[in-house]
Formats: sequence, structure tokens, C-alpha cells
Amino acid sequence: MIPATILKKKREGFELNEKEIQFLISGLQSGEVSDVQITAFLTSSCINGLTDSEIATLTFAMRDSGKKFNFRNINRPIVDKHSTGGVGDKLSLLLVPLVVPLGLAVPMISGRGLGHTGGTVDKLESIYGFNIRPNDEVFYDLMEKNFCFMASQTADLAPADKKLYHIRDITGNVESTGLITASILSKKLVEDLDGLMLDMKVGNGAFMQDFDSARILAESMANVARKTGLKMRILFTSMDQPLGSTAGNWLEIVETMDSLKGHYSSDIRILTERLAAGMLILGGVESDLETAISKVRKIWDEGTAYQYFEKMISTQGGDLEKSYSLYNDLEEENIVCDFEGMITQIDTLYIGIAGIMIGAGRKNVDDEIDYGAGIIFHKKLGDEVKKGDILATVYYNKNRDIQSAVQLIKQCMIISDGNNFKMPKLILDEWVI
Ligand code: URA
Repeated sequence: MIPATILKKKREGFELNEKEIQFLISGLQSGEVSDVQITAFLTSSCINGLTDSEIATLTFAMRDSGKKFNFRNINRPIVDKHSTGGVGDKLSLLLVPLVVPLGLAVPMISGRGLGHTGGTVDKLESIYGFNIRPNDEVFYDLMEKNFCFMASQTADLAPADKKLYHIRDITGNVESTGLITASILSKKLVEDLDGLMLDMKVGNGAFMQDFDSARILAESMANVARKTGLKMRILFTSMDQPLGSTAGNWLEIVETMDSLKGHYSSDIRILTERLAAGMLILGGVESDLETAISKVRKIWDEGTAYQYFEKMISTQGGDLEKSYSLYNDLEEENIVCDFEGMITQIDTLYIGIAGIMIGAGRKNVDDEIDYGAGIIFHKKLGDEVKKGDILATVYYNKNRDIQSAVQLIKQCMIISDGNNFKMPKLILDEWVI
């Protein structure tokens, strides 16, 4: 097959067949299809869209690009959670230690930051010594010992997604229903899951900015899940402001620990409870939301989930104490409020972009991250503010000029009289597939 002929066909708006998509994905791995050629495919897919059949074929080709796990010897339901991406979204880190003590096993393969959104892998990498790329033996050992692991894609787990993810990130080809579906589900389908809880982010900080586009993405994911028999619940949740009170890798680890110890913001608590309850129902451990939520609350409030978090981190080589010392010489700058009023809008996409500007995310695939860089938000949507109040604090490495990022964050936090302000709903809908 000739790559250019397939690429022209896609650019002209025609549907690619199974063989053509499989050729592009296997060619990407063998080198027969170059990164430039795959970029042409990604760009045409973003512009012209992908049909349901193209999305399913792409997902399966990406899933089959590497090896698959087999956890059938684990005597527990195997359930995972994935978010479509947001700013300050650290919920995966809270969920694993909440649901594992309640009877699930969670083999979580996560991604790095994508576009303006953060990634669980980058957050975990901010922990001193944490082994984000265990080998096969360790993966199975962790599942047997801890009933969970949190890891990055290794070279042989959906490697085609790993490559496409990076190329999409640096070529501005992220926001495509089909590409997001294939990326998320190819990774999840190698995990040998009984169920997948999907957090579908909707709002000005999500890839899907309104409910209609989120619904289209959800339908696309549901179509592929049905073809494989994967049970899935999709919770549509608001991303109209950063989640919780931090955005930035190490800061989000600290917020996770604080939250599990009982110092949480209400959005974190509400969403985590709902997602954890959904996971328990998917795994068949509970049958109704109310009971599932009360079990989650108990394990959270008794401190069991926090203890499990520590155990999970240390078993994967992480040292939380030592991590603090990596980040104790950061500079900080406060963003001060100039007016009295109410925070009525937070431009979350640009907060994510400001995060990249201060070093918390990547502009290019090989960029080093400043794991300590990030933002603490002291004020959130609906908060009353006065002149002189601190809206947010930026933490950064002293070698970095952050002035344009500081200005950007300030412009993102919009203050008005609040007369017509309506707090966006945190949970918009839930689908059971
Ligand atoms: N998360 C992923 O893993 N892939 C995407 O494309 C978007 C969010």
C-alpha cells in the first residue's frame, strides 16, 4: 500500500477501510509510515472526522499494536477509571486507594499531559523514586500483592497510542472524537477489564466544551465498548474551573494526600464519591449508588484510603517524605485581586496553558517538566472577593520568567458583580452502557 494514496483519500473525505487503517498503524511502528505521514492522517481525521467503523478499526489496531494483560487469576472484579482530560484533575489518584480496599482490582495505565490538560503519569513522576514503568513481572506481582498498579504505557502496551498521543499533542491534533475514543479505549482494552468508569469532562477546560460534543464523544466510546462487551458507565462532569484547589504535578499529589486525610474541596469529594461508587457497581461489588457511596465515605473518613495510598506509592518505589525535599526551594508569586465582586468565570483552558508556560506541562514532546511548578487557587467560581485578596499563588523554578503566565492567570479569573451568576452543575448526567 502507498501511504500517500491513503492519506489523500482521507483528506478528500472518503472513509478508509480496515486494511488501510491497519496499514497506517502497523506502518507507524515498523517505520514504513513516517511521523509526518501519520500527522497528515491525524489532521485530516480532526478536520473531516472519522466514521464509527473507522473509529472501531483504529481502536482495535492500536489495542493490538502491543501485548495484552491477562488477570484472570486475580480473584476480584477488574475495573478502571479514565478521564477525558482536564485541569487539576487528580481524581484517579484518589479513586484507586478508595476502591481497592472495597474489593476491586485496578490495573491503571494512564497518560501524560495532553494539550492543556494534565496527566496522571506526570503527577506520579513527581514522586521521588516512583516506578512508573514496571516490567511485566512487577505488573503481575503488584496486582497479586496490592490488587492495583498505576503506570505509564510501556513500550509494549498499546504502543501505537503512545506514539500517536505524543504526535497529536505537539501538532495540535487532540480535539477529535474519533482520536480520543481510540486513544482511551485502546489503552483500556489491553487491561483485561470487567468494567470502565469514564469521567467525561465538559466545559471550558475540557476537550469537549459543551454537552452536545461530550454526548457525541460518549456515543462514540459507547459504540466501541459495545462491540467488545466492555461494561462502561459514563459520568458527565463539569470542567468549567480547575478541579480542587491545585493544578501542577507535585501540588496535585499533595492535594490528593490532604484530601484523603479529610481536607478536601467539595468538588473533589462529590466527584470522587460518585466515580468510586460507579466503579463498585461496575465490578458487581455493590448494586445501588446510595450504598456504594456510603461504603466509600466510610473508608475515606476512617483513613483507610489514605493508608492504602501510602502503601501503593511505597510498593511502587515512591518515597513521599523525600519528595517534599525536592520541592522546597521553589519561588512563589501571589496573584492579587484588583476589584471587589464575585468570580463568575474561570477560563480553564488558558489556566492550563499558563500551567505549561510556568513549566508544569510540555510545549514539545521532549520538554522536561518542572514537577514542582503549579498553581494553588485560593478562590473559585462563585467566591466573593475584595481588592487585595490573593486569588492564586504560582509556584515556579527560579530560572523561569513567569510574568506573562501570571498576567494570563489573572485575566482568566473573571470578576463581576455576580448578579446573573449561576454555578455550573458539577454532575450533568450519567449513562450506563
Ligand atoms: N485521554 C487519553 O488517553 N487520550 C486522549 O486522546 C484524551 C484523553
